[in-house]
Amino acid sequence: MPNEGSYEAALRRSDQIQEDLEVHPQSYNMLTGDRPTGRLHLGHYFGTIRERVRLQDMGVRTNIIVADYQVITDRDSTEHIQDNVFNMVMDYLACGIDPQRTMIFTHSAVPAANQLMLPFLSLVTEAEMERNPTVKAEQEASGHALTGLLLTYPVHQACDILFCKGNVVPVGRDQLPHIEVTNKIARRFNERYGKVFPSVAGLLTSTPLLPGLDGRKMSKSYGNAISLCMSADETARLIKKSKTDSERNITFDPEARPGVAALLTTAGICTGRDPKEIADEIGMGGSGQLKKYVTQAVNDYFAPIRERRHAFEQDLDYVRDVLRDGNARANAIADQTLDEVREAMGMVY
Ligand code: TRP
Repeated sequence: MPNEGSYEAALRRSDQIQEDLEVHPQSYNMLTGDRPTGRLHLGHYFGTIRERVRLQDMGVRTNIIVADYQVITDRDSTEHIQDNVFNMVMDYLACGIDPQRTMIFTHSAVPAANQLMLPFLSLVTEAEMERNPTVKAEQEASGHALTGLLLTYPVHQACDILFCKGNVVPVGRDQLPHIEVTNKIARRFNERYGKVFPSVAGLLTSTPLLPGLDGRKMSKSYGNAISLCMSADETARLIKKSKTDSERNITFDPEARPGVAALLTTAGICTGRDPKEIADEIGMGGSGQLKKYVTQAVNDYFAPIRERRHAFEQDLDYVRDVLRDGNARANAIADQTLDEVREAMGMVY
């Protein structure tokens, strides 16, 4: 975690921008993205996807990178990568990302953006890379050796943001150190060679993190995550299996009753209701009734999204076209920025 002082400062800046976004959406250019390692789940949806759609619909310029090179930061294989990328695009489209307004693209298809890595690496030191707390945590969690790509991926992420001159990045708290790296790189580049890049701010979401069904961090590997692509039946089965406790009366107590609280939180976020109110209503109905309620809430909320997703699953050609078009647009922008970089550095021959 970044230190509290810088977190507070980032939060204040984020709040200011949230206000200004309403007034001047056209001054902002959002870039964010995801690693295509599996299907998106409710945590992604309520944590960031919904916010991206909101920014898009407000008239902010929006860009989403499917970060395929980040998959190999701590894995030895690109197995299923194409399937994961296409499915990620389907998830975006189903959730309301409109490819006319939002540029969707992948790392591997935009060489000029990747080329920024060379000048950018010259602007950071080994020590700066090594003290990035998120990189350290990710390396430990992966149980994999620290690869050169994992060590330097925050610099690569600066390439993602800066090639299209993004100035707002919706991120979770864990990604804030990378925003700092990006700003350092932009500032140092501009100081050495002349102004090419904007300064960047993280947009922190106000929605609290949605826990997995058992109250732990939501993660596919824990089996506690409802994916957007699940059917209503699969959703019902997963919720039915989730662990609650032996106390019949339903109360909202995240500390003492993490499983029950996670179910109430999930129902609350899908219905827009206060989880405590739902708990009071169910009371002695017990976890059986609670699970029915959550299942209904999730399935009702996601029914239209899942219906749209189903249509895209039947039309892979369209999904491919969306990505091809996004990649073409990203290449045009990256070529232009790389030209500016060459010009600023005097490397025009
Ligand atoms: N690292 C981000 C994640 O794991 C994904 C990502 C790639 C990203 N490039 C980015 C996020 C640029 C913000 C900006 O979720």
